[in-house]
Amino acid sequence: MSIFNSLGSNYDGQFVRQDLLGMGKKTFLSELSTVLGQHYGGKVTLTYKGRQALELALTHSDLPAGSTVGINGFTCYVVYKAVVNAGYKPVFIDTAAQELNFGTNELKQAVSKHANLKAIIVQNTLGYPADMTTLAAYCQQQNILIIEDLAHSTGLTYSNGREAGSVGALTMMSFSQDKPLDVVAGGALIDRREAKAPDIKLPKASLWQRSRNRFYPLWSSLIRTTYPIGLGRYIHFILKRLHLMSTPMSDDLQGLQRMPTHTAQLILERWQDRQGELAHRRSIAAIYAQKLPKSIQIQSPNTGLPTYLRYPLLVSEPTALISFLRKYQIFIGDTWYDAPIGPKKYFAQTDYQPGTCVQAESLAKQFINLPTHRGVTPEIAADICAKIKQWQALQQTP
Ligand SMILES: Cc1ncc(COP(=O)(O)O)c(C=O)c1O
Repeated sequence: MSIFNSLGSNYDGQFVRQDLLGMGKKTFLSELSTVLGQHYGGKVTLTYKGRQALELALTHSDLPAGSTVGINGFTCYVVYKAVVNAGYKPVFIDTAAQELNFGTNELKQAVSKHANLKAIIVQNTLGYPADMTTLAAYCQQQNILIIEDLAHSTGLTYSNGREAGSVGALTMMSFSQDKPLDVVAGGALIDRREAKAPDIKLPKASLWQRSRNRFYPLWSSLIRTTYPIGLGRYIHFILKRLHLMSTPMSDDLQGLQRMPTHTAQLILERWQDRQGELAHRRSIAAIYAQKLPKSIQIQSPNTGLPTYLRYPLLVSEPTALISFLRKYQIFIGDTWYDAPIGPKKYFAQTDYQPGTCVQAESLAKQFINLPTHRGVTPEIAADICAKIKQWQALQQTP
């Protein structure tokens, strides 16, 4: 049996059939908008991808021209790009020590250097809660707009008991590959401001892109099931070369598009089972927490209830561990994040200056993620822990 961090690991056979053959109805879009609107308290715009919802959040934020937007110094390139596309300049805010998010001290430092910092994006990296209580109090005092990015943290509870997505003026969700409630591609903007938010009309994504998404669960499950017999890697290679695989970064994606109707139907089903998904991820994280040495785990002082989209570890030689685990069919090479603005491949396309976020740079050098998705059973989690300890023991052997 092979286990992956990504590659469609959130889909079962029923989902493969539904995604391939499902016929959407317009009513699914309005039903999903109602569900999300009522849950988070705001006006919903459904988008093709989460990054587009983030861009829309900023273009409709009414920030003064020339404002800068604070983003986590340890983030994904698409977050950076959404800010740039919306016409603002991203300011990288370093993560707090032992944290995957910036805290109020780091935000204060950023404000002292960038007086025009008028908004922040809080992303609760890998589902670890940011210190929202103090961040929200400071932002209110300074009149800084909070955008909550739930791409890793749908269902997360902050230390003050509030659910992620119920604090900021604007909330963005992602339902894309490897995210919570994964349906291959999907996003939502929830405008929680009191003033009536405008109706936003968006065009359809191309038929080519939508078809690739429909086939992605089928292709990825074919690859995953044939990996142990040595075939999967070749099928993967060929499908990639033929551009038939939907990729999370989707380099060719231009502009903003709306969510397809059948995507809304799939999300509605995922939404019904969101507590089940969260409970599973938390139970797998509890095994990692218990069985792995504390010295390689994040000891975040911040409390709250994480969602554990992935389980992070800090090791001295991440690439060596990734290669070691690969020998046992454990594929965790897709790391969020292997650079302060990941993936590494896109880092050079940012204007990040080395030394801006020293904590984040140090995280990126040591970071690996363990999977918590539905395909990871307690036995598999225990086996991953045993292999990691075996690798550590080998490292110590002279
Ligand atoms: C923190 C964060 N925000 C937003 C996104 C964008 O989500 P999507 O892939 O749906 O565009 C991603 C992932 O790509 C992410 O990691």
